Amino acid sequence: MPSSVMPTSTKGAGPRTPAAVSAVSALGLRKSYGDKTVLDGIDLRIPAGSVFALLGPNGAGKTTAVKILSTLVSADGGQAQVAGHDLAADAQAVRAAIGVTGQFSAVDGLITGEENMLLMADLHLLPRREGRRVAAELLERFGLTEAAKKPASTYSGGMKRRLDIAMTLVGSPRIIFLDEPTTGLDPRSRHNMWQIIRELVTGGVTVFLTTQYLDEADELADRIAVLNDGKIVAEGTPEELKRLVPGGHVRLRFTDPDAYRAAAAALPAGTPDEDSLTLQVPSDGSQRDLRTVLDRLDNARIEADELTVHTPDLDDVFFALTAAGGPTKEAVR
Ligand SMILES: Nc1ncnc2c1ncn2[C@@H]1O[C@H](COP(=O)(O)OP(=O)(O)OP(=O)(O)O)[C@@H](O)[C@H]1O
Ligand SMILES: [Mg+2]
Repeated sequence: MPSSVMPTSTKGAGPRTPAAVSAVSALGLRKSYGDKTVLDGIDLRIPAGSVFALLGPNGAGKTTAVKILSTLVSADGGQAQVAGHDLAADAQAVRAAIGVTGQFSAVDGLITGEENMLLMADLHLLPRREGRRVAAELLERFGLTEAAKKPASTYSGGMKRRLDIAMTLVGSPRIIFLDEPTTGLDPRSRHNMWQIIRELVTGGVTVFLTTQYLDEADELADRIAVLNDGKIVAEGTPEELKRLVPGGHVRLRFTDPDAYRAAAAALPAGTPDEDSLTLQVPSDGSQRDLRTVLDRLDNARIEADELTVHTPDLDDVFFALTAAGGPTKEAVR
């Protein structure tokens, strides 16, 4: 690892140094297959020691971006540095610094979990004894010790995914690419995987992940980029992205039509729905905003039967940005 690539911080853990070193930086990456443009000039900058999530609908080009940055396919244009090495000029040095867990498993089902791990140790040219030690340690860490001597084909989907990531870690990479690490996992396995990812980051590893799950990006990522139609249409912290879309509101529901009508009069900014006797009042969800709404109801002696606060989440952002005719990069940045 070059001495300049030092971990900075993890989400919510300590301050980020202002001059955070980039683990990945890319400028104008382009890739086409035939006449289909998959990546249409994407820029990325991922500080070392952080978690970056690339979001996007099916076919957006997430896997293509991962494959380019991990040297598995070459870009048609643009340039990128990974772990301080130029992708085009020094692919070998990039490979030595990274680990990749692909969207589809690299586990060989015919051999045992342990043999899969030892194979990786061999690929990384670890001495035999060191390879055994690393394999055993990782199998233990990923809860696979008991299953280690069984053929990997007998593992559940979650176990295979854990083995996949354990195999990626054999070479102690400083940057890991995880292409949809939790797709197909049950809620408990997903949370376990999140915990593993957080531990990696605490250890100073930079994580580049792609995901379809917005809560996953929200949970793990320091920064998120949304890829759509080959372009990054938004980039920022989860909070910054949520601020891009309107939609925060307080919803008041009534059973008494008179109370409903009185509330609609007291809160003229609200959108009334006569059929369901509900009133939707725009709100940023802040304490001050809620107090204003409640004060107005109190002053008019109105009691709502139900009050719910809706703040925009990443689902709202995703739908707003990846819908046909969504805002352009310039408009939302
Ligand atoms: N080797 C290839 N040859 C031709 N087309 C390809 C190749 N690899 C990817 N594509 C095309 O590039 C586009 C982007 O694919 P990619 O796998 O990067 O999308 P993705 O965002 O990872 O999608 P998903 O969410 O389904 O995994 C798709 O239209 C796909 O068909
Ligand atoms: Mg993919």
